[in-house]
Amino acid sequence: MADLDDIRDGKNFGQGTPVANQQFYLKGCDNIGWGTKDRMARIFRPDTGKSVMLAFDHGFLMGPTSGLERIDLNIVPLAPYADCLMGTRGVIRACIPPGFNKPICLRADCGSTILTEMNHNVILDIEDAIRLNASAVAVMVEAGAAATEAKTIANLYKMVDFGQRYGIPVMGVTAVGKDMVRDARYFSLASRMCAENGANIVKTYYCENFSQVTASCPVPIVIAGGKKLPEIEALQLAYNAINDGASGVDMGRNVSQSDAPAAMIQAISGVVHDGLTPEEGLEKFNDLK
Ligand code: R5P
Repeated sequence: MADLDDIRDGKNFGQGTPVANQQFYLKGCDNIGWGTKDRMARIFRPDTGKSVMLAFDHGFLMGPTSGLERIDLNIVPLAPYADCLMGTRGVIRACIPPGFNKPICLRADCGSTILTEMNHNVILDIEDAIRLNASAVAVMVEAGAAATEAKTIANLYKMVDFGQRYGIPVMGVTAVGKDMVRDARYFSLASRMCAENGANIVKTYYCENFSQVTASCPVPIVIAGGKKLPEIEALQLAYNAINDGASGVDMGRNVSQSDAPAAMIQAISGVVHDGLTPEEGLEKFNDLK
């Protein structure tokens, strides 16, 4: 019960001042719920509309691969510079201190070792995403893979149902298998398929004519970095992706396998959020390393 002493009547009701248009700053989000928008706004900075996500979920396939040998030593020191942390529930619980107050994009399909094909038969119980206070969940879609396309789309579809129920955005991660051509036609199809099936975010790979991929996808796209490149090339990749309409990056190896990962993620952030050129980004990297 509010304190009943000294109740003061309102004075300024803003007559003549229309309610500001509250269109959301990310594409494809105007008709989703408040909670989903709030979670999206934790991932994509409202001031730039972009995100630098730090991916370390590949451990569920590659094990303690280079840059992931020790999450407490390799990844935790980078967390302050990321806008969002993308990892698996096991590593997040075991290694990521909750005090960072960073949004989590939780890998929600099941890992398998690189010795076998991915296990697409299991997806996360959405209650575990809620327990982890995930700001998004991510599942892979293997578009074009005869044996797994239907199953992975079904996983995405199911995860979108769960996400809608609790206001948790879903990120569709397009695969890029050995026998899939990395071109705009494929990535446009794969990205659009994720969006058509309800993904709120799509993670895919940069390619030639990438602006066709981003323009034809009705929700924000972030790019994976892929295998380790020289820093200037990774910065160029981020720069090109942003210029071609991406809403950010979700890089793993190009950060954690750099000689100076903390400097690298800050340089990438400069390119993504502050409009640095790749050369300026490299200068920032060299200053910080
Ligand atoms: C793919 O399924 C994974 O989400 C990421 O691609 C992985 O975590 C590593 O990211 P990157 O490709 O940038 O090393």
